[in-house]
Amino acid sequence: MEFNTARLRLDGLRESDAGSLFQYRSDPAVARYQGWCPASTDEALDFIRTQQSISFDVPDSWLQLAIRLSDDDRLIGDLGLHLPADADGSYEFGVTLAPAFQGRGYAREAVGALLDFLFRTHGAHRVHASIDPRNLASAALLRSLGMRQEAHFRESLKMRGEWVDDVIFALLAREWPAPGALR
Ligand SMILES: CC(C)(COP(=O)(O)OP(=O)(O)OC[C@H]1O[C@@H](n2cnc3c(N)ncnc32)[C@H](O)[C@@H]1OP(=O)(O)O)[C@@H](O)C(=O)NCCC(=O)NCCS
Repeated sequence: MEFNTARLRLDGLRESDAGSLFQYRSDPAVARYQGWCPASTDEALDFIRTQQSISFDVPDSWLQLAIRLSDDDRLIGDLGLHLPADADGSYEFGVTLAPAFQGRGYAREAVGALLDFLFRTHGAHRVHASIDPRNLASAALLRSLGMRQEAHFRESLKMRGEWVDDVIFALLAREWPAPGALR
């Protein structure tokens, strides 16, 4: 699965990405609201190797795409897509950018391309994201793409020993593209 946008290329993670992936994923500011935080470059490499057996048609799996700058092929983040267990057209995603590449619209560009593919090419019915409500940058990103807050579960997930809230943002195919989502 590969996409090109105006400034980005989304494709599979490579073994040579392990160092960069470890570096930004283990940054405390990036890891704060995330379930996965690699402890070493080797753990990041194991993750990448596991990903090599996952493709868009593997049900009930997380496919983690690389987000790269088209100009120089540099890894600047990743985009995880949860593929449904029974091909029922309902998808979940999560997105991460290295701190140096935040605040430039790259996440919006990458997720916009993913939503466009899922809804307009692949025939998805619903796409959602699950975030910690304290994660304001994520909430702003999802709202800017036209996603709607549908649920707020109180202390429903335990992360690193702490019970945390879980907020669900979602979008239906008939709502895509939301006004201004594909600038
Ligand atoms: C969630 C996350 C990816 C959002 O990244 P982000 O850089 O804020 O989002 P975008 O790439 O869409 O950038 C939006 C910002 O870039 C600005 N921007 C600059 N140029 C832009 C452009 N060409 N197009 C759109 N926005 C642009 C926007 O104004 C906005 O800034 P603002 O928030 O000050 O208004 C990032 O905060 C992150 O990686 N967090 C850690 C991982 C995480 O918690 N992920 C949540 C799992 S869902």
